[in-house]
Amino acid sequence: LIAPASANCLAKFAQGLADDLLTTLYLVTETPVIICPAMNKSMWHHPATQDNCTLLQQRGVMIVGPDSGSQACGEFGLGRLTETHIIIDALRLVSVCGQLKGQNVLITAGPTREALDPVRYLSNNSSGKMGYALAQAAYFAGADVTLISGPTALPIPFGVKHCSVISAKEMHQQVMAHLHQGAIFIGCAAVADYAPLSVNTQKIKKSNQDAPSLQLTLNSDILADVAKANKASLVIGFAAETNDVLTNARKKLLAKNLARGIANQVSEALGDNNEGSEVTVMAAETQMPLPLMNKVRLAGQIITILAKMATK
Ligand code: PMT
Repeated sequence: LIAPASANCLAKFAQGLADDLLTTLYLVTETPVIICPAMNKSMWHHPATQDNCTLLQQRGVMIVGPDSGSQACGEFGLGRLTETHIIIDALRLVSVCGQLKGQNVLITAGPTREALDPVRYLSNNSSGKMGYALAQAAYFAGADVTLISGPTALPIPFGVKHCSVISAKEMHQQVMAHLHQGAIFIGCAAVADYAPLSVNTQKIKKSNQDAPSLQLTLNSDILADVAKANKASLVIGFAAETNDVLTNARKKLLAKNLARGIANQVSEALGDNNEGSEVTVMAAETQMPLPLMNKVRLAGQIITILAKMATK
């Protein structure tokens, strides 16, 4: 990890110069390398710097950043060292570098909210962490990534195109609008199966007599409709279960016409307090259990498995 890396450093790395300790170490390093550029915005935008970065990327170097913002020299623009948490994610995900080069990946994440009235809704505890980690891993793997997200408190993953939605209906619309021919689709969102049949325009008033009853209507199934559209090269759905995880997950995947998917024990995987998850990747006749691990690391492993599936 070389952070920060100046324009001068990038030029030396690209040209293979080794006239000091850092450039010499770079030249003898055989492990994957992450470079986080940091410099004045004009230096960053200079064609020489851009060409040097492209050359390094073509050689398999993972370039992370720079960020945009105010600079030490008083200017404003691209050139700031990327945030530390993104650099740490890049370190955790360095093994995926280049695995999805040139691929288009569409991911759903987070919960949906189904409005009851202007201030109340039905929802669930999904934090979005798993889907956001997958989006970050897919980006570091070289893919063009779009993340369609329900409401979460998470920062947008670095380099990822992000589209915010609230309800399952909106998520469905945005997924269909962003689904490109040949894309890899990963359904990680906890989409509400049902929505209230009607939404009150005014806040529902409390009554001391009867508790109101709620009529629900079935939401369209995004995953099943993506599979039906026959555009994606690979469709993967998460299946959240509380019991008989693998049996129920396989039933669910078959009902949605999916040959492959990812099963998880939802009680352990979902929510703001859960940084880790234990999943099983399911293919037509095989299943691959992965041990409990941090969601960022898990995302890296899942992307590696999906990259192999995508090339088969
Ligand atoms: O967000 P985190 O806190 O990190 O938690 C991650 C997670 C537990 C939410 C995630 O790993 C997960 O399991 N996501 C799927 C949750 C879910 O809704 O599962 P399900 O079994 O109800 O649905 C199965 C699949 O169908 C899912 O891919 C879901 O996105 C999809 N679906 C469901 C209903 C619907 N109307 N449309 C859909 O596409």
